[in-house]
Amino acid sequence: MSQAAKHPHHVAIIMDGNGRWAQMRGRPRLLGHHAGARRVKEIVRACPDLGVRYLTIFAFSTENWKRTQTEVAGLMRLFKRYIRREAKALFEENVRVRFIGDRVRLEPALVDLMDGLELMTAGNTGTNLTIALNYGGRDEVTRAARRLAHDVAMGKLDPRAICDETFPRYLDTYVLPDPDLVIRTSGEARISNFLLWQSAYAEYEFIDTLWPDFTPAVFAQVIGRFGQRERRFGAVMA
Ligand code: IPE
Ligand code: IPE
Ligand code: MG
Repeated sequence: MSQAAKHPHHVAIIMDGNGRWAQMRGRPRLLGHHAGARRVKEIVRACPDLGVRYLTIFAFSTENWKRTQTEVAGLMRLFKRYIRREAKALFEENVRVRFIGDRVRLEPALVDLMDGLELMTAGNTGTNLTIALNYGGRDEVTRAARRLAHDVAMGKLDPRAICDETFPRYLDTYVLPDPDLVIRTSGEARISNFLLWQSAYAEYEFIDTLWPDFTPAVFAQVIGRFGQRERRFGAVMA
């Protein structure tokens, strides 16, 4: 059966182009990340009116450690600052925040803030905001396979019971629906290791806008285009 597309329930965004945005202005890359963080606030606030219940944003990939020490340290400081400054507003706006990605490599002070924000907003019933931090799709699938193998070895899981419904329960996203729409800003047409399993049937939008220029109005346009798409999920339209 085909399913007529309306508004996307779950939107995932690869927020790209902060560095170029700053460089175009002759400013350090970190300034672009700060401008990008301000944009995140507006985009989160725009979700209820656009009918977006789940928003997942790619903030730092498992590959981003390859950047200079200055940029990585600046980003980690920015994440801590963002959580400290935004926690109250996110709570009051009824946003439920979750983090996905491997926390092991993150500094304890940041992990504490992440845990605190998840706990603080656990009872919220509005927009589900998921922040992918030290996230990589292959890393997530590998960690899931490791946990699944452990359950098999402990006799808790019968290998014959493993199917495409069992496996995602081991992913970081186990409580989230699959994304309907994945947006990447900045003109790059690749997914850079984002939500590999979950995006199997997502619609994609690659747009030229750099992330710090991605306003709620641009977001609304992209959401509007999604409504024009025909999603077939492998079936043939009647
Ligand atoms: C995306 O912007 C943010 C992160 C990866 C943290 P970039 O920093 O990749 O910006 P460009 O692609 O260099 O312009
Ligand atoms: C993807 O952007 C990661 C995030 C947006 C956090 P990158 O800028 O790191 O991706 P590549 O290197 O261009 O593929
Ligand atoms: Mg980039």
